[in-house]
Amino acid sequence: MPTTPLIPDTINVLLIGGGGREHALAWKLGQSPRLGTLWVDASANAGITALGRPCPEPISGRELFRLARWCDREDIHLVVIGPEAPLAEGWADELAGENRLVFGPSKDAARLEADKSWAKDIMRAASIPTADGRSFSRLEQAIAYAETREEGCVVKASGLAAGKGVVVCDTPEEAVDAVTSMMGDPERPGRGAFGDAGDTVVIEEKLLGQELSVLAIVDGRSIWVLDPCQDHKQVGEGDVGPNTGGMGAYSPTPLATEEVMRLVEREVLVPTVDALRREGITYRGVLYAGLMLTAGGPKVLEFNCRFGDPECQPLMMRLQGDLLKVLWAAAAGCLDDLEEGLRTDPRTACCVVRCSEGYPGNITTGHEIEGLEEAATLAGDGEDVMVFHAGTKASEDGIPVTAGGRVVGVTALAADLRRAQTLANAAADTVRFTGGFHRRDIGNRVLGELPETEVATDLG
Ligand code: AMP
Ligand code: GLY
Repeated sequence: MPTTPLIPDTINVLLIGGGGREHALAWKLGQSPRLGTLWVDASANAGITALGRPCPEPISGRELFRLARWCDREDIHLVVIGPEAPLAEGWADELAGENRLVFGPSKDAARLEADKSWAKDIMRAASIPTADGRSFSRLEQAIAYAETREEGCVVKASGLAAGKGVVVCDTPEEAVDAVTSMMGDPERPGRGAFGDAGDTVVIEEKLLGQELSVLAIVDGRSIWVLDPCQDHKQVGEGDVGPNTGGMGAYSPTPLATEEVMRLVEREVLVPTVDALRREGITYRGVLYAGLMLTAGGPKVLEFNCRFGDPECQPLMMRLQGDLLKVLWAAAAGCLDDLEEGLRTDPRTACCVVRCSEGYPGNITTGHEIEGLEEAATLAGDGEDVMVFHAGTKASEDGIPVTAGGRVVGVTALAADLRRAQTLANAAADTVRFTGGFHRRDIGNRVLGELPETEVATDLG
């Protein structure tokens, strides 16, 4: 019998990443009675640096050895890695130590997000429901295939492209354009729109339905499924315009019936972790399935190897209990030994992201942000509002200014989705900066204010 490692009474944490997801994690970790010192990236946003001590070492892929030695000296017990890029580069492997765990998958496991072509192979081999697709690393073959997709298709850069490497195409011409722009000049690999990430593309069938995000905390064997969320990726109200990293998300969603969640766990999450194990890969961290609820049941659009952003924000608002203990136990491979699981607030959380003018294209930064404190005052009895910072920084005189495309995630917790949406929108209106905008329709896909797409009703 393997012995269960004892959870330390005091856990010093280094949190890597500096956006809205990490602000929500820092806030929740800060509620743990076990938290010793929370160290954060000195260049993280103003919300995070207000909650943690800035790490004096550079947090960069080129300085990992130095960072690991600093972690040794400072007695860091747990490193929590938020974003996908460091996970794909293998930081989890590099930063683990004799007395230190890392929450986040190894480089091998993070390939599930960083190499869509490989992820498709894993899914195909394990019969995990996903869109039919083919991978190409030769431009002329990709074009020849794209030209035959009369019914439309979806073209994806296989590597990481910050949420922008997916083009949903209605015609073969659009597909050929997408392929050509991603793969670039065949004589010069890495010269496409997303660099090396587009050297291989996946072309897959276009699925119809509502989208659902199901995230689970995985310790190598056990899977704790979190309450489902729905993200809104397109920049414009009514789901128009280019894809972004995510304009808002709410949780829970009525789309995820018990039957849907059972199918997702049984046909997607469990077989994925098992399939990786057969490849000799232990998955520890967050496994995020981006799904389409088609008439034929839920199908995987993509896997992510970390908390979603903004999904993490409504999830953290609803999570009850000690997140630090859970992340530590997942990293240690002993989730089942915790005497208590995660509990979730039954109320609904709705997060709307206030963005800089021009996002997801060119933006300007450095605009002063007003009204951050005012937002929370709008919450009534039994309600809460949190403003999680995303692209902000403190100016020299300590005033928060804009520093990115997604500036803040305003997240409201209320009795139902309609009220949570209203409150989140009202609170977001109080956060003012030049050119700021947000989508006011987060949640409308289920509130019935948008034309219904094909919602799965018979999942038999
Ligand atoms: P991904 O990053 O793979 O989740 O793709 C970004 C967005 O593109 C998704 O949220 C969907 O809206 C859309 N998408 C991706 N794959 C498909 C597909 N096979 N069919 C229809 N839409 C898709
Ligand atoms: N919001 C989508 C993502 O984090 O990938």
